[in-house]
Amino acid sequence: MKNKGLNILMMLLISSITVFGQSPKAKKPTPQYKDPLDRKVDSVLAKMNLDEKIGQLTLFTSDWDVTGPTIRKGYADDIRSGKCGNIFNAHTADYNRKLQEIAMKETRMKIPLLFGYDVIHGYKTIFPIPLGEAASWDMTAIERSARIAAEEASAAGLHWTFAPMLDISRDPRWGRCTEGSGEDVYLGSLIGAARTRGFQGKIGSTSSVVACAKHFAAYGAAQAGRDYHTVDLSDVSLWETYLPPFKACVDAGALTFMTSFNEINGVPSTANKPLLTDILRKKWGFKGFIVTDYTSINEMVNHGNVADEKEAGEKSINAGVDMDLQGAVYYNYLKKSLAEGKVSQLTVDNAVRRVLKLKFQLGLFDNPYKFSDTEREKRVVFSKENREAARDMARKSIVLLKNDNMTLPLSKNKTIAVVGPLADSKIDLIGSWSGAGDGNACVSLLEGIKKAAPSATIMHAQGCDLENNFPSMNQPKLSMDGFAEAIRITKQADVVVVAVGERGWMTGEAACRADITLPGVQKDLILELVKTGKPVVVVLLNGRPLAIPEVADKATAIVEAWFPGTEGGNAVADVLFGDYNPSGKLPMTFPRSVGQVPLFYCEKNTGRPFDANNKYTSKYMDMANTPQYPFGFGLSYTTFSYENLSADKPMFGFNDKITVSFTLKNTGNRDGEEIAQLYVRDLVGSITRPLKELKRFQKVLLKAGESKVISFTLTTDDLAFYHPNLEKKAEAGDFDIMVGGSSDAVKTVRVTLK
Ligand code: BGC
Repeated sequence: MKNKGLNILMMLLISSITVFGQSPKAKKPTPQYKDPLDRKVDSVLAKMNLDEKIGQLTLFTSDWDVTGPTIRKGYADDIRSGKCGNIFNAHTADYNRKLQEIAMKETRMKIPLLFGYDVIHGYKTIFPIPLGEAASWDMTAIERSARIAAEEASAAGLHWTFAPMLDISRDPRWGRCTEGSGEDVYLGSLIGAARTRGFQGKIGSTSSVVACAKHFAAYGAAQAGRDYHTVDLSDVSLWETYLPPFKACVDAGALTFMTSFNEINGVPSTANKPLLTDILRKKWGFKGFIVTDYTSINEMVNHGNVADEKEAGEKSINAGVDMDLQGAVYYNYLKKSLAEGKVSQLTVDNAVRRVLKLKFQLGLFDNPYKFSDTEREKRVVFSKENREAARDMARKSIVLLKNDNMTLPLSKNKTIAVVGPLADSKIDLIGSWSGAGDGNACVSLLEGIKKAAPSATIMHAQGCDLENNFPSMNQPKLSMDGFAEAIRITKQADVVVVAVGERGWMTGEAACRADITLPGVQKDLILELVKTGKPVVVVLLNGRPLAIPEVADKATAIVEAWFPGTEGGNAVADVLFGDYNPSGKLPMTFPRSVGQVPLFYCEKNTGRPFDANNKYTSKYMDMANTPQYPFGFGLSYTTFSYENLSADKPMFGFNDKITVSFTLKNTGNRDGEEIAQLYVRDLVGSITRPLKELKRFQKVLLKAGESKVISFTLTTDDLAFYHPNLEKKAEAGDFDIMVGGSSDAVKTVRVTLK
């Protein structure tokens, strides 16, 4: 009885508390956490005030002047007050420790800063530009390059890189094609995933750097190849061409994404909810955070889809953007937007949760200084092994475009004239977006040649300059005065090596060119050297496909070396003298003229395909349709044949696999590597299909005379395509499966899907 009475009393008490809403249980149901980190995140979040929350969504820059790294006083104060929780462009272990100390010792919440930087193709040891690396088609080497970049960057205090850049680009006028993997979706997707794995390594370890898949999305489809320009695209093209590399990075575990500057069909990416929330988060299951590109929220005012920055901020965060890079829009207006009910507290909290979670995943709450180890920095950055790896990657990225009379490789006992405006350049070899790279630490081509061939007689003349106030529109004609000396030494030599191309700064962001020929009088220099009758070996150092029709016609040999990085001169010399047999293949088409652009291998047939005898077919009156050098093209010092192509069955069902085999033979007298490529054409589709699409490739090392049977297995998924309702599926019918060493040199077998 006594107990019963007590029970009733207790029940009454509990129910009255519940009725008045004061039961701690009823008010705050304990959240169920699948991931224990989420509990930690919430316990931090619960203690934060609104300024501190917005601070976690704010990313400001640090600077670098002649005295070393610095930070603007205002930004240092913002770190102190908790109004800036993330910094980019700050690097070196010592300096980042100092900034981290402000966050850890002088702020109320003691939330560690996240340090980001554009480590695109190396931190200090610079590897070839990404477009160059793509020419290696070597996923192991590309992943290793990103791993080394991460090892160096993390040793220098960095947590996060704004890479990989995944923008498919089919327009060489666009300066940023240098940062990507070229024109192909399949190759670009594999490379994006390899770079993501390489940068991130094992998240939480001290050598892991968080990847940022950028620029989401379709930035490379800018009209007229002009940076930041409008993108107008069908949904099918968006899904088929521009989104797959991003999806591949989500699958590879990329933890952050960056929006792009452009609009797509009238909607700036930074406010594109279908893209950021519906596709990226909901459909693909991306769990990390999304950062804007540099002031891309603010730029919506210029785009004209918002009246002011405050509205731009509201559209961005409501679309799914978590962090504002340098724009200070969240910093300035988010509080007001919340007060006005334009943005919900939950939206802000969820964005903050994502940022905090990454900091937990990196282990920064346990040890905010774990990436600031000066000893490790000294040991790792610019190590001998890293330079060796950069040299190897550079060799693998070189593409041999022409080699008449087997002029290459050169003998090391000859007299060699080394000329051209880039022959003794160092700084240009690292290209754009070269992080903390140091031009002075580069090996120039002249140095590389001298080192590789000590018994050769080497003469050098610059020949001409590369630019004169470039990119001024009224560029006065450059002087040809240096030609005479270049011609004089060439006449005395057995062969001339001419290093021409672009300056590093002529590609990259805001470095578009309407004229993609060799700048200045470089072409004239080459043509004058050809007149000497000596073999002319052209080494191209550049960041985009160039239009070089006369050079392609007249030079004896052409080596595409891109911007090859710190060890560039050594790597090119390795190829010139045959210490390395080139195996690179073009990841982007080289047009004959800018007038053909955009020109890419996977074009469609049209209703009036080219017919030389019929004027009313799809062609130019003044130029061939074909490129100078197609996608997938690249020579070797040996030759390869593709024989006995067959499919294991002529017909296959939707749940079957089909295996295509052929014999690849090294038909020359040197060992060499070939990148064997497989393309598919769907002959009849309910919507039209490209003439060919890359679906598989394999890099194969064969000894002279050796042959090997290569097999590729395809599933129906490899034959599927996006339909207008955005369903991806294959259709029954005939398919041509093509194999070869270039997109234009292919043998075909026909199979039927039933
Ligand atoms: C570029 C991004 C880069 C960012 C931060 C922007 O201008 O478009 O690719 O990551 O700056 O440096």
